[in-house]
Amino acid sequence: MRIPFNRPTIAPHQLDYVNQTFATGQLSGDGPFTNRASQILSELHGGSKVLLTTSCTSALELSALLLDLKAGDEVIVPSFTFVSSANAFVIMGAKIIFAEVERDTFSISARTIEPLITSRTRAIVAVNYGGQPSVTDDLIALALQHNVAIVEDNAHGLFGHDNGTPLGTKAALSTLSFHETKNITCGEGGALVINDPSFIERAEIIREKGTNRSLFFRGMIDKYTWVDKGSSYLMSDINAAVLTAQLEFGDEIQRRRRQAFDLYMSALGDWAERNGATLPHHLAHSDRPCHLFPILMPNLGTRTAVIDFARASDVFLTFHYVPLHHSPGGTTFGSFDGDFATTQTISDTLVRLPLFSDMTSDDAGRVAEVLSSFRG
Ligand SMILES: Cc1ncc(COP(=O)(O)O)c(C=O)c1O
Repeated sequence: MRIPFNRPTIAPHQLDYVNQTFATGQLSGDGPFTNRASQILSELHGGSKVLLTTSCTSALELSALLLDLKAGDEVIVPSFTFVSSANAFVIMGAKIIFAEVERDTFSISARTIEPLITSRTRAIVAVNYGGQPSVTDDLIALALQHNVAIVEDNAHGLFGHDNGTPLGTKAALSTLSFHETKNITCGEGGALVINDPSFIERAEIIREKGTNRSLFFRGMIDKYTWVDKGSSYLMSDINAAVLTAQLEFGDEIQRRRRQAFDLYMSALGDWAERNGATLPHHLAHSDRPCHLFPILMPNLGTRTAVIDFARASDVFLTFHYVPLHHSPGGTTFGSFDGDFATTQTISDTLVRLPLFSDMTSDDAGRVAEVLSSFRG
């Protein structure tokens, strides 16, 4: 039985909805499915304004434009993240200051951020790795004290909560991804969640190529024109149609992912102990979105060995994130201080198990069985 690392969900009605977009001829953005998907996402975020974008990367770029970042500004970003968490700010001219993550959460904390804040710091990018909340009260207090914005990169965290509060609602701006690897997907897609309403009007303009077209469509002005910086960040209604169907199927997707996650947790406990591996106990909490199942192996050698061992049995595991601070882009556009031992250890030893919505318990059981026969 071959178990891929990921298989994107096929939601009921997604092709019917796509056909509807062609039947009505409304294919570009801000159509009926954009409204439906945005409404569902807004409800999931306590009523905040949600703008669909072409990707999480473009939602991060939109955030950088909203903050008016310019050359010389500093943005603090974890080294253990996807390149877009940094690059979205680099293309606006900002310098990246890399931050360490905590070993038990794989995410930044007020402790790792505080020493990096200077008078040039304009923003902190808080990445919720695997849906682990990183916008803590301490971090919010620190940002307020220094008048620094927090941008919450919540690419992994849709459906996650922090003590009952939806992830993505505590910072002024947060971003989502609907890439094919995510719990909810429309191929490529994303969203900007705007929790500070003072950003809404300008965000709509920037997303619409710098024009006030959204106001025009709402009948608030007679004609639209170029008013600000901007780009083409609007998701098409074809993608929004798929997204709507996936979101409507969200409870079932999450139920199935939870089932596979819990099966792994209970089947692999003894194996992890015998092999010096660490299971993601912090992501097992019922508030977490079951986006990833990352295991820390004792060292790089056993991490490589377990990936090869599982592949020989047709089970596909993968590692995550080469640290950004040592990458060619990171050394050109950023700087760091310290040895980043935690980031390096996590990057060297982390392995992710297959986790997708149409995994049966037999599939998850098979993954656990193969892993259980691995000796480090
Ligand atoms: C933490 C993080 N931020 C941003 C992104 C970029 O997402 P997208 O592919 O939607 O631009 C990813 C991609 O997986 C990610 O893991």
